[in-house]
Amino acid sequence: MAKKSYTCSACGNVTSKWAGKCEACGEWNTIQEEKPLSAGPGSKSLGTKRGTAIELTDLATEEAPPPRTEAGVGELDRVLGGGLVQASALLVGGDPGIGKSTLLLQAAARFARNGLKVIYISGEEAAAQVRMRAQRLDLTESPVQLASATNLRDILTTLDTEKPDLAIIDSIQTMWADNVEAAPGSVSQVRSAAHELTSFAKRKGIAVIMVGHVTKEGQIAGPRVVEHMVDTVLYFEGERGHQFRLLRAVKNRFGPADEIGVFEMTGKGLVEVKNPSALFLSQRGAPTPGSVVFAGIEGSRPVLCEIQALVAPSPHAQPRRSVVGWDGSRLAMILAVLEARCGVPFTGLDVYLNVAGGMRISEPGADLAVAAALVSAREDASLPQEAVVFGEISLSGALRPVSQAENRLKEAAKLGFTAAIVPPLSKRIASSDVALTQVPDLAGFVSEIFGEATRKVDPVEED
Ligand code: TYD
Ligand code: MG
Repeated sequence: MAKKSYTCSACGNVTSKWAGKCEACGEWNTIQEEKPLSAGPGSKSLGTKRGTAIELTDLATEEAPPPRTEAGVGELDRVLGGGLVQASALLVGGDPGIGKSTLLLQAAARFARNGLKVIYISGEEAAAQVRMRAQRLDLTESPVQLASATNLRDILTTLDTEKPDLAIIDSIQTMWADNVEAAPGSVSQVRSAAHELTSFAKRKGIAVIMVGHVTKEGQIAGPRVVEHMVDTVLYFEGERGHQFRLLRAVKNRFGPADEIGVFEMTGKGLVEVKNPSALFLSQRGAPTPGSVVFAGIEGSRPVLCEIQALVAPSPHAQPRRSVVGWDGSRLAMILAVLEARCGVPFTGLDVYLNVAGGMRISEPGADLAVAAALVSAREDASLPQEAVVFGEISLSGALRPVSQAENRLKEAAKLGFTAAIVPPLSKRIASSDVALTQVPDLAGFVSEIFGEATRKVDPVEED
């Protein structure tokens, strides 16, 4: 009898025993039994039978860049690295309801208009539902072929006869391969379907875009293995209550990763946002304590956004630390540096940090802006409204320069900012429009900006 194996649908960890809780990631009820593939890898040793020799080439072999097709939507083309590459496999991940199907239907229509033969296969919605969406998006005229199907074998046969340039599979979790004895959405089904579709894309020279739902931990549901198989992984993210959506390249074999495209969800679908800084800052009012404008870089492009902090006496024994749009452990680090190096403690205070507009920042270059927002909120003193802030904080309290300072300052000047608070910049930055305040360390920053008045004592009364 074949040995059974069990796989965690959250992290992909394989064990020989079923358990209620995954040992690797600590999730509950995610372990599923997986039947071994009949003749899959690992089922038998290769033995001594000789294969055919593989042709080797040297590194200098001339290779033309892969042919690409642009969608004509700047925000999408940039994230793709300059357009859609022929014979590539892409995964678009995101929370349910964030707008993946909308994005891909609109992209399908654009690519079709630019001469590609496009097939859109929905495993989640009936064809009529997709048609209704197309109507709402004003896309009924575009030559996209549509089907509602989940049987992978039928889908591959159809694609093989129709020979499209681009096939969109919405979603990979609904696909069902009849050679795998498991329910659709299980790790082995998703892995098998993604593998079949990826190798089909390579073999037949068509581009395949797969939609993947994300689990609450932010992984493409179940198998991270899908991420390794495909050429490009894009995440579509945004806060539910906000209309902004970010398309982020987390992996791209044909272009830079970390590139973002910004869209706005409107009543007529997604509209690209060409100047995200203006949009993220549009709702700023009068100077407010705790509000700081961070001049960041997302991919190849500078993006300004507002970081907001709120600090209030805590009724709890363990004060709250709540973060939206930034890394929670990075916040803890900055609070610790503020306390240890600058004598600005946050003991007994609840701290809330928010990146406005549903933006998510992963750059350490935002450290100084976060620290500024925290101190500003704690001191109830606002920063000069015409100033942007950026810089990385090290554990010693020193400020480190960040990349592309000049681009950040240019973007700030473009949006009407006239001052910047930054770490010492290595070379002379040619910026006449923005007055630079260069501070070497966090303590210097706190006294420079908030003066000696900074309350250095714990505001909570001791018993
Ligand atoms: P959808 O693309 O179905 O999300 P996903 O495929 O990621 O699950 O989008 C769902 C949401 O988008 C839904 O709540 C309605 C909203 N929406 C608009 O606001 N405007 C539109 O034009 C469309 C088509 C959808
Ligand atoms: Mg959908």
